[in-house]
Amino acid sequence: MLRIAVISDIHYADRCQSPKRKGEWALHLLTEAVRRLNEDVRPDVVAVLGDLIDDPAAPDRLERLEQLRDIIERVDAPYIVLPGNHDPEPDVFYRVMPRPADALDIKGVRFISFVDAEEPGWNASRSATDLARMDAARADGHTGPLVMLQHVPVLPPGATSCPYTYTNIDDVISRCDAQALTLSIGGHHHRGTQPVKRNKTTYLCVKALCEEPFVFTTVDLAETEARVAEHTVPGP
Ligand SMILES: [Fe+2]
Ligand SMILES: [Fe+2]
Repeated sequence: MLRIAVISDIHYADRCQSPKRKGEWALHLLTEAVRRLNEDVRPDVVAVLGDLIDDPAAPDRLERLEQLRDIIERVDAPYIVLPGNHDPEPDVFYRVMPRPADALDIKGVRFISFVDAEEPGWNASRSATDLARMDAARADGHTGPLVMLQHVPVLPPGATSCPYTYTNIDDVISRCDAQALTLSIGGHHHRGTQPVKRNKTTYLCVKALCEEPFVFTTVDLAETEARVAEHTVPGP
């Protein structure tokens, strides 16, 4: 069994435009989440799936990311941090955060992560280069579980109430099928979705840390079965 912890949509700010988002609680919520991860949850890997800050153009955006990084660094597990559409552009973001490897193998499970281009309507698109990375995900003969991470959730069209998708979703889903992807995890849609199983793949969008009910998510992966649980983090 491999345990993945997922934290998404922290939206750190003094005040977010949307009052539902408690960006001003970010440091507290993240600190509490990391403490619970280390003390109780003990994941094998932690994924932070974007929108770490609320305003990508804020003059203090790098300082804010540094504050968040200093908390994330305390997790006693390998971690993967991806930017979202509220974060600075990847080259700036990865001046502060460690840039994840194209593929990371942990206890026989391979993690591939993607930074997708933003499209109008808070949608996304996956580049030809990244579609080719999906094609190559098992090229070295990896036959174990394969987990795909990104900010905007990859979900089968029509399967959930998530209003956000990819302009080339069919190209992405066809590769999930071709690679017998085990699990796809995204954030971005703050309400999250139930896990959806299509063919060999479980598709999941996790809830935001910054909004009611203030949760992070764990996924326990046993071969092809994914068990999802949410963990509430108390506010300040
Ligand atoms: Fe978000
Ligand atoms: Fe987002």
